[in-house]
Amino acid sequence: MKSLPGALALILAAAVVSSGCTPSSADTVAAQPAAASTAAPAPAPMAASFVPPPEAAIPAGPLGEVIRQGRAIFTDTPTHARAYVGNDLSCSNCHLDAGRQANSAPLWGAYGLYPQYRKKNGRVNTLGERMQGCFRYSMNGKAPALDSAEMVALETYAWWMAKGAPVGVALKGAGYPKQGFKPPRPPDYARGEQVYAKNCALCHGSDGQGQQVAGRNVFPPLWGPQSFNWGAGMHQIDNAAAFIKANMPFSRGDTLSAQDAWDVAMFMDAHERPQDPRYGGDLSETRRKYHDSPMSLYGTEVNGHLLGSSPARP
Ligand code: HEC
Ligand code: HEC
Repeated sequence: MKSLPGALALILAAAVVSSGCTPSSADTVAAQPAAASTAAPAPAPMAASFVPPPEAAIPAGPLGEVIRQGRAIFTDTPTHARAYVGNDLSCSNCHLDAGRQANSAPLWGAYGLYPQYRKKNGRVNTLGERMQGCFRYSMNGKAPALDSAEMVALETYAWWMAKGAPVGVALKGAGYPKQGFKPPRPPDYARGEQVYAKNCALCHGSDGQGQQVAGRNVFPPLWGPQSFNWGAGMHQIDNAAAFIKANMPFSRGDTLSAQDAWDVAMFMDAHERPQDPRYGGDLSETRRKYHDSPMSLYGTEVNGHLLGSSPARP
């Protein structure tokens, strides 16, 4: 366990304040008119980003309890859903500001888009099944049952956050902004390494292992045994590039060039991480079945190393 140098603590404090994670900025959010949650349900054109109801609008009583439980699981998954988590991450490490932030696959953007057909498993997935996927891959864990208390709480939290949003519509700010997002030149490992050293290592560590204080992540790891596994969406370069471009460096989203975002995404996704749980004993066969895309480096050789051949062990 490393201790957090004073300067980093300051950076974190500044970053957290400006990202809207603290009680004080939650007040700011609560002060906005809660138009979206009370407006008539007439589906509005989706020009403006949907505004989820403020935290303070979570109702009292048994429904509110479950919404709060869902929020707790989402923002501190290792504590509140321990049995299902195989790494140090929380859902909100990738779905920022407790799942509220536009362009980081916010829950309000996801809720109305499910059930949805997914190529990844070749069938229609409910929202619960989609969340199970994030447990299995992003959290490198195992999925809670669809009718478990954990899953009910997560779905209830998502439902609450999407209150007033139209159903079956891709809202502005939903998902990661991947559409038409291409790099001018093919992503490059060596350039990505430089972008990383300059823009990311301060928080995520030059070894990519993040920083922990008292056994808890202050900055989450980007590869290695405590990171997302080889089956996770974030291991695909296009997903990672879109997430990074919109959201990283933390609190300074949209400051990297498109090229830098793609290069650093490629660099990050060219490191070992826990094995894909669908691995069948043969790397090239597993690549052919599940990773047959230029966006996945799994089973390919980068920098003299065959990725997936010596997966990190938690
Ligand atoms: C390592 C990063 C990471 C973590 C941790 C993570 N996710 Fe995700 N999640 C993703 C990515 C990547 C996607 C795909 C987004 C896309 O395709 O635009 C995604 C998609 C989703 C979606 C669908 C979003 C949509 O708009 O269709 C939901 C719901 C979701 N995650 C819930 C969760 C929950 C619940 C947890 C915690 C148990 C979690 N995620 C943890 C990266 C992560
Ligand atoms: C100021 C500190 C800081 C800097 C600089 C920074 N990050 Fe992050 N990063 C964070 C924090 C904090 C989170 C988790 C966000 C949360 O939980 O709200 C995060 C989350 C992530 C995640 C998703 C979670 C995971 O561990 O997989 C990725 C990927 C990521 N950062 C990549 C990068 C990249 C690439 C750069 C450089 C371009 C970068 N970050 C720069 C602080 C930082």
